[in-house]
Amino acid sequence: MIHINSVLPHGGQLIDRIAPSNKREEFLSQKDNLPRLRLEERTISDLIMIAIGGFSPLKGFMEQADYHSVVQNMHLSNGVPWSIPITLPVQEEVANSLKEGELIRLDNLAGEFIGVLELTQKYKYQKNEEAIKVYKTEDEKHPGVQVLYKQGKINLAGSIWLLERSENKLFPKYQIDPRESRKLFQEKKWSTIVGFQTRNPIHRAHEYIQKCALEVVDGLFLHPLVGATKSDDIPADVRMKCYEIMINNYFPQKRVILAINPSAMRYAGPREAIFHAIIRKNYGCTHFIVGRDHAGVGDYYGTYDAQDIFNEFDLNALGIIPMKFEHAFYCKRTQQMATSKTSPSGENERIHLSGTKVREMLRSGEMPPAQFSRPEVAAELIKAMNN
Ligand code: ADX
Repeated sequence: MIHINSVLPHGGQLIDRIAPSNKREEFLSQKDNLPRLRLEERTISDLIMIAIGGFSPLKGFMEQADYHSVVQNMHLSNGVPWSIPITLPVQEEVANSLKEGELIRLDNLAGEFIGVLELTQKYKYQKNEEAIKVYKTEDEKHPGVQVLYKQGKINLAGSIWLLERSENKLFPKYQIDPRESRKLFQEKKWSTIVGFQTRNPIHRAHEYIQKCALEVVDGLFLHPLVGATKSDDIPADVRMKCYEIMINNYFPQKRVILAINPSAMRYAGPREAIFHAIIRKNYGCTHFIVGRDHAGVGDYYGTYDAQDIFNEFDLNALGIIPMKFEHAFYCKRTQQMATSKTSPSGENERIHLSGTKVREMLRSGEMPPAQFSRPEVAAELIKAMNN
């Protein structure tokens, strides 16, 4: 087993781009003289993730060499594994008004000054190529491709600074950044920690794979994504209540840490599984759960593509161990949660409902079977959906 002290951040050093007070003062004193750029919600998520070290070793938005290398080879130009482009796209007119070498003021949606970009490069990028390589489809119905195609044509690149790390208004208690999670793991004397990514309320299959993992590691880092998701996903505030219910009723509380992941969802399936694992490594995890169709949507990816992609990497360079789980279901024959690795049941002895089916049930106030969801969680979802 790996010891926590040996879990180095990706690239070797945890990046900190939250402006120290002298820099912050300097930036603030220039606030009315800098060219301004208003960022979209997703780019703000990226800015925050870079600043807090969640995207280490990135210090900013990718320059062309890294961008191409990531799209083509799933590695940064210095050879460090990286699977998803982190870019700041703008319209051509906006790009034309900015000069390389300039400091750009970055604003949030309300027009407030939140960070700066040290602009080093502007480059045109090939959206179709990115769509095919990263998302494996050019279909505009794919939610990740849809976002990509709506973006501007020019990427701005360069290091960033976040002016300050403000408290998350909705979930202050669960805002645990990589420096803090690493400290918490050490305080708890956990040497092995499994990270769990989710954008859904926890159902029985999630619970099963989390607990299988917990049987062999010291702690579970339950790390739901709360950045932008597609519109029919369940909102983060509702999900957070469901996670609390799960931990309070069904988990040994000392062995779980719940924390929010500020990133936006890409729905890039296999490529995103690698990205999700790297993020959790930066938070200090030694292991990462990859189940069926991780970060997938519709039928764009094969059920286990997100597991197989790990075979394309040098696991030492990746630095986090994937824990791969087959499709889990409730097995009527053995009367427990199982996968085809642990149960001899046939298809008609298995209960697995689709997300769509469950959403329909919840919307009509109908409780999904206890074999699918813990009743307290289902009740919370029915309440939220029918409000
Ligand atoms: S994701 O987009 O964040 O991956 P979701 O929240 O549904 O979606 O999944 C969280 C994790 O649980 C992923 O690793 C996914 O592969 C896994 N998972 C979801 N449902 C199952 C299931 N029935 N069996 C095995 N793994 C599953």
